[in-house]
Amino acid sequence: MLTGHGGNLSEIAREFGLAPDKIIDFSSNVNPFDYPPELEQYLASNLNAIRRFPETNSQYLGRKLSEIHNCAPEQILVGNGSTEIIYLIPRAFSAKWTLIVAPTYADYADAVLFAGGRVDYFFAKRQQAFQPDLPELEKRIDGHDLVFLCNPNNPTGRLLEPELLRKVMRRFPAVTFVLDATYSEFVGVQTSRQALFDLGNVIELHSLGKIFAVPGLRLGYSICSGELNRRMLKYKEPWTVNTLAQLAGEFLLRKKSWVTESRRAIAEEMDFLRKSVSEISSLHLFDSQTNFCLFEILNPEVDATFLKDMLLQKNMLIRDCSNFAGLSDRFFRIAVQKREKNQMLLAALREILEEN
Ligand SMILES: Cc1ncc(COP(=O)(O)O)c(C=O)c1O
Repeated sequence: MLTGHGGNLSEIAREFGLAPDKIIDFSSNVNPFDYPPELEQYLASNLNAIRRFPETNSQYLGRKLSEIHNCAPEQILVGNGSTEIIYLIPRAFSAKWTLIVAPTYADYADAVLFAGGRVDYFFAKRQQAFQPDLPELEKRIDGHDLVFLCNPNNPTGRLLEPELLRKVMRRFPAVTFVLDATYSEFVGVQTSRQALFDLGNVIELHSLGKIFAVPGLRLGYSICSGELNRRMLKYKEPWTVNTLAQLAGEFLLRKKSWVTESRRAIAEEMDFLRKSVSEISSLHLFDSQTNFCLFEILNPEVDATFLKDMLLQKNMLIRDCSNFAGLSDRFFRIAVQKREKNQMLLAALREILEEN
């Protein structure tokens, strides 16, 4: 990891002398409704599975995923979080020049630099509410062998219409597009979650950690053409997904109603947040289609680092976005929580922003 991640709950809790569960974590984009409770019992009763090696490439889980996505098992690659695959791609494709649609998740750049490649950015603009200008993006693609694009995007929450993306990706068949759909599971409208992996030059990334609130299990996957998948498999280490994570994945994939209900409840909380924030004049909330949202601080006396520190004194952790390329110390991100916690955050934001 070259440039670092955002809020790390355990480290911050240690630094402040608090137990991690005493901090309300708005900084990581995980489902606030927790994992299905039966998961604990299931894993406990299967604990002895750790006596055997896991399948080298999670083949059984891969088959289950292919049934869900209506594709061939040879199109699925299961990884130790989608992070493993993000780092695998630039190595597998020996990418020399990569274009990253930003501001976005910092690990894409880290992964490319790690593999010895070079990075260019295409920045979505504040004046366009961070919606990438696709005709302008198209003018920048030639000369790059990889393009990373996150949809819905972290940290802006913007969702680009899949059909518009499809048109762009189709025009550049020699370029490999990595479409990070990690947060698409939180998007309610089915058409917006429409897959793009049927294009031969797209690798779609997914994560089970966020939607099922199990980021500690490290479980993600990609879907792409069999050809691209074979290329990645050549560079992938065996046994990166442990036995319990594979079992948990198979179990969680059966919990469809958990996903639907979480989506509905999160959308309701997002609406509540949107309405309540409109009453805080020193904050601008960017419209988001997923489970987290980006804020701009309009009060010039307060920056995101100060706000983060003030909120930590109240046991709340937000994501200071000042280290995202293309953002500044005016921006922070929160993942929606349950109502009571959202209300606590809103009260604290009013107090800090309106008193400073
Ligand atoms: C956009 C995006 N992609 C990928 C990841 C990594 O997901 P995983 O936990 O599956 O490795 C994250 C984690 O925060 C993310 O925000």
